[in-house]
Parts: sequence; structure tokens; C-alpha cells
Amino acid sequence: MGSIGPADDTPQTGTEFPFPIVSFQPFLDGTPEGKKEVADRLYDAFHNFGWVYLKDFGISQSEIEEMFRRSKQFHDQPTEWKEKLRLNDPSVSQGYTADGAESSDPHGGRSHKECYEHRKVNELCPAEGELDDWTAWANTFYKKLLDLASHVASALATVLGLDADEFRAQLGQLDGQLRLLHYMPVARKTLESGRNFRINPHTDYGLFTLLFQDSVGGLEVDRFHDGKFVSATPIPGTCVINVADILQRLSNDGLRSTRHRVMAPKLSQKQLDAIGPDGYLPARYSTAFFVHPERNFLVDPIVKEGDKPHYEPCVAGCWRDAITAKNYRLPIPMDTPEQVQAAKCVDLRYMMAANIEKKPRVI
Ligand SMILES: [Fe+2]
Repeated sequence: MGSIGPADDTPQTGTEFPFPIVSFQPFLDGTPEGKKEVADRLYDAFHNFGWVYLKDFGISQSEIEEMFRRSKQFHDQPTEWKEKLRLNDPSVSQGYTADGAESSDPHGGRSHKECYEHRKVNELCPAEGELDDWTAWANTFYKKLLDLASHVASALATVLGLDADEFRAQLGQLDGQLRLLHYMPVARKTLESGRNFRINPHTDYGLFTLLFQDSVGGLEVDRFHDGKFVSATPIPGTCVINVADILQRLSNDGLRSTRHRVMAPKLSQKQLDAIGPDGYLPARYSTAFFVHPERNFLVDPIVKEGDKPHYEPCVAGCWRDAITAKNYRLPIPMDTPEQVQAAKCVDLRYMMAANIEKKPRVI
């Protein structure tokens, strides 16, 4: 059984690394005390930051290293090969997205990345046996992440003070979106110029995200939506869980969907001198598993007595379709009252994001 020292979950405010690290092992062990202990720590982390580093979560470091090797193997293929797998329906999250094809920046900024998403719901994946049985590996890893997500969802029920079985039944079959991201080498000058990012500031829009990052760094978190980003330093053997928009809406702002972005990694002067002002920053790989409830789930805020709902209800699948369509610059589906309602909620989401960008920056 993993252990949690008292120092593990203490937010280290005022440092470069202010996030709690929580062992998930007591939850996986299944005792009521262990489950409650983990849920309490997750509540503190999600209420205050929306962001936690998880360790002892049932996927080994060697499996994580293999995942990064597989991600690099995929992205090392020629562009023409990857383009044959190009994602053609954002709502199904299967296939390849080239650099520049997607952006969630309300001000039209540019994110420099490419990604492949895996659910194997169509043929937009490497064929059977191709790339050393790449798709067979991806299916197995996807399943592992879905199992972990299911445990995390049960923990979140406890965090929200709900019956875990009831909550899981309401969420239905969780829908995972496995995204293998490659941030290609990019000119230092590009990232130092206006509105160029590895990923622009955004919040994730599902229930929650499991995130794995390599050792390069550059991920930054705006904990309080005040424009003051802090580094979310990579820690071997951990993944991050970040609360996403649906969970924030569902918890009526009890849990925070945190803004984050990926910028140039923090490098030493010696490293910067070696790169030079006209040089390129190193490539970075990260992998996200975006977790969504089933499509029909109604995202209706759970309101405490005496409180008012902060959000209008909307259907999870329509919410997701509207956001992906917007990010891929496609028409937003508006054929049903549920789609119209979700589009209204999504419009508001982008308006709020744009307003945050306009706020004066707190240093
Ligand atoms: Fe994100």
C-alpha cells in the first residue's frame, strides 16, 4: 500500500510548485477509511486549485514511458501518412489533427502542436499490425485509463458528497478521449511573440482530465483566473487530474475548472545560450485523457440549500459537440432544442474566457 506523508498534500504556496500530491492507493485498496481519506484530500485540492498530482494510481512508470515511446513513434511518421488518418468528425475524437487545425483561443491566437486521438470508433487509426501493432497497444492503454477514470469518478462522487453508485449510474458509461500530443520544436522567437503558444490558455470542457507530461516542461496553471500562471512541473511517476468545465458546472463552482497553457519550458541561462536567440526550443510530448459522461447526461448544477444555480442545465453531448465544432471552426449543430441550449451555454463560456483575457494581469 502506498503511503501519504503529512507533507504530501500541503499546498506549497509561494513556490514554483504549489500543487498537492496525493496517493491514490488508499482509494484503490477499497477500505471506507482509505476512500474517505483520498476524497478529503482531493476535495481540498480541487476546491482550491482544481489541479492535483496523483501517484500510486495503478499504471507503472514503465507503462508511462512506453506510452511516450509510442506517441513519438506515431508522430515520427511522415506527414502524408498521418494526414491519411486526419480526424474528420470532431465529435467522435478519433484521428489525427495537424498543426494549426484546432484552436480554442477566443482572440485567434496560434497553438503550435499536432495530436492523434484514439477511441477506435472508425478506421482513422493505424491498421492492424502496423507500427509494431500500434493500435493494439493504444487499445490496451485506453482501457487502463478508462478503468482509472472510473475509480476517479467514484472518488469524485465522495468529494461531492454523493452516493458513488448513484453518481456513477447517472454519468453512464464514461467516454474517454485519449489525445497523444506532440509539440514540435518551435523557434524561440515565435513563442516570445504575441499570442503564440504551445497551447493557448484554456479550461478543459469534459468532466475531468488525466494528464501525463514528459520531462521537458512548459505547462503552466492560472489557479485563480487572475492571469498569474505558475509552472506545473513534471514529476516522474505521477499524472495530473484537473477538473474540467462539466464538473465545475455540476458542482455549482464548488470544484474549480482551472485555466492552463503550455509555453516555452523554463530553461537555464546556459541552455538558452546553447539554443541562441534564433534557435529552436526542444520538442515536448504530453498525453491527455479527457473524461466525459455519456452523451445524454444532463449537466444540472447540484445546488446546496440556500444557494442558487450558477449555470443553466445543458446536455453533455450537445455541450461537447458545440465546443469541438467551435475549436475546429465548423458550424455548431443547432437542430434540436438541446443543441440550441448547449450552444447558448458554450457562447457564454467563450465570452467569459475572452473577459478573463481582458482583465489586467496580476503580478
Ligand atoms: Fe487542457
